[in-house]
Amino acid sequence: MKAAVYYQNGGPEVFRYEDVADPVCGLNDVIIRVESIAIEGGDLINRELRPLAKIPHIVGYQCAGTVDVVGSEVFDRRVGDRVVAVLPWGSHAQYAVAPAADTWIVPEGLSIDMAAAIPVAWGTAYECLFTAGRLENANTVLIHAGAGALGLAAVQLAKRAGAKVFVTASDDSRLNQLKAFGMDIGINYAVDDFVGKIMSYTSGRGVDLVVDSIGGKTLASSIQSLAYGGRAVTVGVSGRDSEKLDPVMLWRGNKSLHGVYFPSCLDAEHQRVHYRVSEILEAAARGEISVVIDRTFPLKFAQEAHQYVQSRRAFGRVLMRP
Ligand SMILES: NC(=O)c1ccc[n+]([C@@H]2O[C@H](COP(=O)([O-])OP(=O)(O)OC[C@H]3O[C@@H](n4cnc5c(N)ncnc54)[C@H](OP(=O)(O)O)[C@@H]3O)[C@@H](O)[C@H]2O)c1
Repeated sequence: MKAAVYYQNGGPEVFRYEDVADPVCGLNDVIIRVESIAIEGGDLINRELRPLAKIPHIVGYQCAGTVDVVGSEVFDRRVGDRVVAVLPWGSHAQYAVAPAADTWIVPEGLSIDMAAAIPVAWGTAYECLFTAGRLENANTVLIHAGAGALGLAAVQLAKRAGAKVFVTASDDSRLNQLKAFGMDIGINYAVDDFVGKIMSYTSGRGVDLVVDSIGGKTLASSIQSLAYGGRAVTVGVSGRDSEKLDPVMLWRGNKSLHGVYFPSCLDAEHQRVHYRVSEILEAAARGEISVVIDRTFPLKFAQEAHQYVQSRRAFGRVLMRP
């Protein structure tokens, strides 16, 4: 099969479009003929930093397509099922192997492209806001990088829950687009001090919750933006900034910091989160939420596709098609 592979970590230029061996189906796995590949924010970080599982390595942890082979211990998936899958690596290819337990049947009425963009971004946004963040009606929430896929999911879910939604992005044009998705107040954190802006918009109180996918200095400022007893949820390191946090800053104001990691099939929480993602897929099929796709590249242009995501110009998810 064809795949976008690399032999060492680095920028988008490390990708090669090559013939590689087809994946092998384990007892509890399915093999998917891939039709749509979501470029997840974590795929960029993995390509830059994380050790390669194989050489050459196929990055990528989310794709959708049609089941081609079913492992002998799998009884709830059939050849021909349309599924979306989360996998440890291997989505940037014509075929991918995934644990069957980490697949979802794509509901009737939902496109393969929309489905490909849902589980991690939306499941994680839900966990940040409601499980770790305990968001309630009338709370105030600050969501960083609102124009990214996780951010756009969080903005919509927070608005549906009745919260007042503050959002950051690094340019005004993408902030303007976010109004249609539930943003109440936008802050361009590339030019404005977002802590000062939040304090001024909330009359010095701060917000109840921050969803922080940026990390480093931004995470420290997120904690400064919190109201008394507020919660910061750390979920990503998109800022690539290794500044360490001083936990003493949580003391004054009795603030708390929570981590969120989208559970894998080994986690005790798997069943609960898997069910939640099924509900989100159904809501998308009914048109109740908007899954935003910025654009789609052919897989053979994985270099250009990753370069585009890295440029921070995308609004929503960027996909590739084998
Ligand atoms: N813990 C978990 O289980 C989990 C699950 C899902 C995602 N994540 C993490 O959450 C983050 C967001 O994921 P995503 O899929 O929503 O990513 P995405 O769609 O690619 O969006 C990332 C956003 O981050 C912002 N950003 C800030 N600094 C950046 C930089 N140096 N390079 C690129 N983007 C930068 C950009 O918005 P602005 O330009 O507006 O700042 C961009 O839109 C990633 O770090 C990902 O690893 C973690």
